[in-house]
Amino acid sequence: MMKTYLDEDADALDGFEFLTMAEAGEVGHWSVLKTLNQTANSSEIGDLVEWALPIQERHYAGVTQTSLELASEEDPNEPA
Ligand SMILES: [Fe+2]
Repeated sequence: MMKTYLDEDADALDGFEFLTMAEAGEVGHWSVLKTLNQTANSSEIGDLVEWALPIQERHYAGVTQTSLELASEEDPNEPA
């Protein structure tokens, strides 16, 4: 997926946009697992979700913040 999204012209913002999408996917995955476990009621899965979900939320917040900082520095009118 990364090779499809990032070509040789990719810049830092492109890279962080990719990371933002990847981390959003991880947050989504662990959130789905958390919801599934509300029915399954596994303490092992519950412990794993409690450990992993905040980590992925931090990753997502960090890469999103950097993406937005880089985006704010971009000139949208700059020729490609
Ligand atoms: Fe992550």
